[in-house]
Amino acid sequence: MRPRARQRSVKVQLAPSILSADFSRLGEEIRSVDESGAHLIHCDVMDGHYVPNLTIGPLVVKAIRPVTELPLDVHLMVTNPDELVPAFVAAGADRITVHVEACVHLHRSLHAIREAGVRPGVALNPATPLSSIEEVLDEIDLLLIMSVNPGFGGQKFIPGALERLRRARALREARGLEFDLQVDGGVGADNVAEVAEAGADIVVAGSAVFDGVDAAAATRRLLAAAER
Ligand code: DX5
Ligand code: ZN
Repeated sequence: MRPRARQRSVKVQLAPSILSADFSRLGEEIRSVDESGAHLIHCDVMDGHYVPNLTIGPLVVKAIRPVTELPLDVHLMVTNPDELVPAFVAAGADRITVHVEACVHLHRSLHAIREAGVRPGVALNPATPLSSIEEVLDEIDLLLIMSVNPGFGGQKFIPGALERLRRARALREARGLEFDLQVDGGVGADNVAEVAEAGADIVVAGSAVFDGVDAAAATRRLLAAAER
């Protein structure tokens, strides 16, 4: 049994996205954010159809599995995610998040993930209404509010995500549920505290962590900024 996300004193958990890491030193990059206090490792899977970019598949997830004990948080930006779920489960994913816009039978997709022993999540693009996932809130462990249009790292945070986050938090409270709220895209030391304040339990950060200079220092900086 692998450990769940670390319990730390910080209110918000940090999930560095390896999308911006140096892939020629991926193991080293992951070890350095792990040792600096990151809570999960976010793996952005893009298929060149659902989003205009092509990234990693189950082989890479399998390769990084032995490198860290942190949960592997797999964000599927693909059409037909159901077809790929078994391969990512076998590769060692702890969480799998699918996009509501990519799922014809979202309820079935979420169930299939949970039945495979992995924690299911659902993601919403910036233009997708919160109401689109109201009927499946009981089924999820994570709700991912995209704060950029998916496809690339290094984009600018869309401020409307803060209001969506507040509404999602209120909805969760009203329904007495406990899923995690995650925000992904454009989060850095300058806005992480505001994002945490609006209700994020987990923030994803790619370019702000893997800045090509010092991922360990950037991780510590973000965690400190989140507590402010
Ligand atoms: C965007 C991805 C994000 C991205 C975040 O499609 O889902 O996880 O890597 O990168 P930054 O933090 O650079 O916006
Ligand atoms: Zn992502």
